[in-house]
Amino acid sequence: MTNSHEIGGKLLIWYEAHARELPWRARPGCAQRVDPYRVWLSEIMLQQTTVVTVVPYFEAFLMRWPDVQALAGAPDEAVLAAWAGLGYYARARNLIKCARMVAANGGMFPDTEAGLLGLPGIGPYTAAAIAAIAFGRAAVVVDGNIERVMARLFDEQIPLPQAKPLLKMRAAALTPSRRAGDHAQALMDLGATVCIPKAPRCEACPLAGFCVANKAGRAAELPRRQPKKPKPLRRGYIFHALREDGTVLLETRPPRGLLGGMQGLVGSDWQQEMPPFLPPLSADWQEAEAKIYHIFTHFSLELTLMAARVGGQMPRMGAFVPPVPAGDLPSVMRKAYLAGQRQLS
Ligand code: ADE
Repeated sequence: MTNSHEIGGKLLIWYEAHARELPWRARPGCAQRVDPYRVWLSEIMLQQTTVVTVVPYFEAFLMRWPDVQALAGAPDEAVLAAWAGLGYYARARNLIKCARMVAANGGMFPDTEAGLLGLPGIGPYTAAAIAAIAFGRAAVVVDGNIERVMARLFDEQIPLPQAKPLLKMRAAALTPSRRAGDHAQALMDLGATVCIPKAPRCEACPLAGFCVANKAGRAAELPRRQPKKPKPLRRGYIFHALREDGTVLLETRPPRGLLGGMQGLVGSDWQQEMPPFLPPLSADWQEAEAKIYHIFTHFSLELTLMAARVGGQMPRMGAFVPPVPAGDLPSVMRKAYLAGQRQLS
């Protein structure tokens, strides 16, 4: 038996005993495949978001839209509101587009990596994950957790991100032709529960006997990373305006760009230098003491919140609407909205 077969075998035995029970999963080793819709939906939600955050969203989506046709038929706004809080709204837009393409194809997802790659919102990682988990293809699935496991198992010293192709080759050499979905999810779970970033639990690891970094006593140091450049800071104003009748000033953001198509408070552009103070209507604006902070992929944001009770003037942007549940707004807007309500209460 080669090392890679042995490693794969040990890993699957461990997975059968320790798999996390997640609502989009089949029991390990279960011959019955999971509905590709569930696999796809979970993988899209899990891009950039943790399992703990995703579970309630996944369950709510499935209750409301039990299959791809149902999701494809839903209005954009309903899907975007249900997505609010998962972040990266381009993903929700692509989710809708993808559901409609698949529904137009009779509700069948392509069953190969190449076919899946042709759908909106599905990149190489997601295509591999769906092909392996939903269709049993021997696709090589590599996410951040799996990169960490590979870096340690093979004591790879080259830092990320340069090490990515190498770590993928390592993962490819371990990928079995059968049960590739269980294999991938076993590695994900190992990375999430045992081979964890800071203090790996090597004593509980089924692969410890094969792990070169463990033998060298430096598992916790891997993977090495190229130091990151700090994120630039952008600044701007955000306005919370409340009318006597309880309506609030909100806008739907343009479909493209950051938070595209999502609802939010109106505000200035976000730039390095504080933009000019140009409120959406004239009022007795009060500056909130605490700034609103949010971290996006490519920059950090510091917003100055201005709040006012206003009369009946027409705003330059947005419209006065009945208050919405804060949970329907994207995270940064939710923070500003709740802070604005506190400011005026
Ligand atoms: N992260 C991405 N896909 C996952 C899955 N199928 N199970 C657990 N964590 C994941």
